[in-house]
Amino acid sequence: MDANNTIISLVGVSKVFDGSFVAVDNFNLEIKKGEFVTLLGPSGCGKTTTLRMIAGFELPSKGKIFLGGQDITNLPPYQRPVNTVFQHYALFPNLDVYDNIAFGLKIKKIPYEAKDRHGNTVTKYKRMDAKSIDEKVAKALAIVDLEEMEDRDISNLSGGQQQRVAIARAIVNEPQVLLLDEPLSALDHKMRQDMQLELKEMHNKLGITFIYVTHDQEEALSMSDTIVVMKDGAIQQVGTPESIYNEPVSAYVADFIGESNIYNGTMVGPKQVRFIGGIWNCIDDFPLNEKVDVVIRPEDVELGTPGKGVVDGIISSRIFKGEDYSYVINVGKNEVLCRDTHLKEVGEKVSIHVVKENLQIMHKDLTNNVWDDAYIDKNGNVVIGEDAFPVDLTQLVKGSSVDDDGYVVDPKNKKKFDFRDAKVVAKCTLEDPVISDNLDQGHATGTIVSTVWLGDHYQYIVRTDDEEDFIVNTPYAWNEGDMVSVDIPVAALKLRLKKDLDAYGAD
Ligand SMILES: Nc1ncnc2c1ncn2[C@@H]1O[C@H](COP(=O)(O)OP(=O)(O)O)[C@@H](O)[C@H]1O
Ligand SMILES: [Mg+2]
Repeated sequence: MDANNTIISLVGVSKVFDGSFVAVDNFNLEIKKGEFVTLLGPSGCGKTTTLRMIAGFELPSKGKIFLGGQDITNLPPYQRPVNTVFQHYALFPNLDVYDNIAFGLKIKKIPYEAKDRHGNTVTKYKRMDAKSIDEKVAKALAIVDLEEMEDRDISNLSGGQQQRVAIARAIVNEPQVLLLDEPLSALDHKMRQDMQLELKEMHNKLGITFIYVTHDQEEALSMSDTIVVMKDGAIQQVGTPESIYNEPVSAYVADFIGESNIYNGTMVGPKQVRFIGGIWNCIDDFPLNEKVDVVIRPEDVELGTPGKGVVDGIISSRIFKGEDYSYVINVGKNEVLCRDTHLKEVGEKVSIHVVKENLQIMHKDLTNNVWDDAYIDKNGNVVIGEDAFPVDLTQLVKGSSVDDDGYVVDPKNKKKFDFRDAKVVAKCTLEDPVISDNLDQGHATGTIVSTVWLGDHYQYIVRTDDEEDFIVNTPYAWNEGDMVSVDIPVAALKLRLKKDLDAYGAD
């Protein structure tokens, strides 16, 4: 570890709640002095918990945290040169801007050394003098661009201005590290974009380390020096915005960072992959017949005259985006997202081509069954490929239940959610799917296309007619080519929404 350059390191940090729930899983990360680092991942992936451990509000169950080379794992929050801007910043409504910012300084006790009457050196505490407080508040106000506003009532400020006061309050103590937990989530879209730029400027002016938490990839891409993509408490990828965007290590990261087309592909020859009904040249070589994830960025999809590309499709929607158009093209049952500057009409037939360097081929994650392009149908089932499976939708909202109309209701605030047509990632373990000779027994049928004996059990791949794979670990013997039914127990099917929960509010 380079102690001069590294300010914070997390070494094997885990957090287990309630004895068994792993919220943060063996987190290893080094953060450089002055860096703007963003923890990015969907709701519930452990971002806040990680931040709270750095701040000292939560102790790791395992692992260590270092600051400037010193072990701070067990240091209480107030002894860490770290400050936090919370998602729900609570300003004092009865105090003006100045007093909100000065509050921490006024109650702060500054240690100093003095001699007692026996001549021994002792540590005493004193308050900060008014002039120093004035200077520090003025400096913080200048950084958040609120000079002249110090006498204003909090209640008369806009959301963006209140957020700036919250930031000023956190930086007035001159922390070495500022932690920001989704600080812009309460602001509207336009305000959020303005504040992104301003936060970046504040970071430059202050020259301190920012650790920023968000589930918004756009925010992460536009502000960060380094992005840490998280999933289920673990780090998926660490890198610059460019490297994460251009070279995602998995379909999960690609899907999370920016818009992507992700397809199930099958290798059909040397550097040849089949998906969405076409055979494409690529630059990666994988074994023949291997199932792979294919990732294509919308801006890499090239449209041409019908018959001139690899597949043809019909434009089903067009949205003007300022610099270009965003198209959805239907190719059979698949959708292809495309960004293009040329004007085309909805209903027009086009060909699709992608140069081979822009087709990213990735190994499938074979530790779980993951279906990236599942959705919820009108009956509340999850559709994988073309097969609908019953699923427990209440898992999407903690402690919720389903009402008579099929809405998921949060009992705490009576909020209703409508998940019909919601795009989801569906998941289960390899032990969960149940296969049977009785073709009426499951919610899908398929053919066993691969069998492997793994010492004490078999691993099968069951492929449906629409080329969805179910990987199944079981002690029972089947043969390649057998037709079987597949079912997944309701309790085993896990869902992750592709959009934020707020997008499904039904009231
Ligand atoms: N104090 C706690 N007790 C039990 N579970 C918790 C506690 N805090 C967080 N969790 C759980 O840990 C997981 C990660 O939470 P969190 O770090 O808040 O995620 P994020 O900030 O990425 O949305 C969630 O499943 C959450 O419910
Ligand atoms: Mg959080």
